[in-house]
Amino acid sequence: MEKLPDMAEQSIVIALTKGRILKETLPLFERAGIRPLEDIEQSRKLIFDTNVPNVRMMVIRGADVPTYVEFGSADLGVVGKDLLMEYGEAAFYEPLDLGIARCRLMTAGPVGAGPSPGRLRVASKFVNIARRHFAGEGVQAEIVKLNGGLELAPIMGLADHIVDIVDTGNTLRANGLEPLDLIAEISSRIIVNKASMKMKHGQIAELLQALKTAVETES
Ligand code: PRP
Repeated sequence: MEKLPDMAEQSIVIALTKGRILKETLPLFERAGIRPLEDIEQSRKLIFDTNVPNVRMMVIRGADVPTYVEFGSADLGVVGKDLLMEYGEAAFYEPLDLGIARCRLMTAGPVGAGPSPGRLRVASKFVNIARRHFAGEGVQAEIVKLNGGLELAPIMGLADHIVDIVDTGNTLRANGLEPLDLIAEISSRIIVNKASMKMKHGQIAELLQALKTAVETES
């Protein structure tokens, strides 16, 4: 698409996931030449100007990043693959794997527990992923939605198994659980609103190229 002169000035909003992912995201964006004008981690503000004119960063919970990007309130987002798989991946473009915040999405259950008699009950905050996984395995499972601290569910008899993020495995071990099936390798991705990709193509392509170079030159 031909870039019109007045389009060069369009505003770009990037939705970042707060918390652990943010700590790895900011250095990567810095290497790509984009940095917030204030210390995001020390501020209570949620949206920040950057050193690049017309580029702003907003900081929200990961689960809300796909929503902002799908509806176009943010042009780009940084979010974990787990949340994308849960949200539904057709809603936006996913042009770049940032390779940060790597972990695994797994099923887990009590150490040494055999197959459960009857229907398996599974607790997760990733109910869509869990449903798809067990359906794909041909296992009848009842999925129970929890919002955190999933490892407690088998201990308290609420569920037989969980579907959760495993990083070091310490949380599973500390709660008498063991990893079972790998569902997906997870890392943080860049997602782009579909209309923005067309309307602001020049600016977004430039930004993606800078981020791609930053990922490849990761020290
Ligand atoms: C995540 C995940 C596990 C833990 C895994 O929880 O849900 O509980 O990290 O990490 P580990 O394998 O290194 O122990 P998080 O701290 O994000 O909080 P949550 O329980 O509220 O999801």
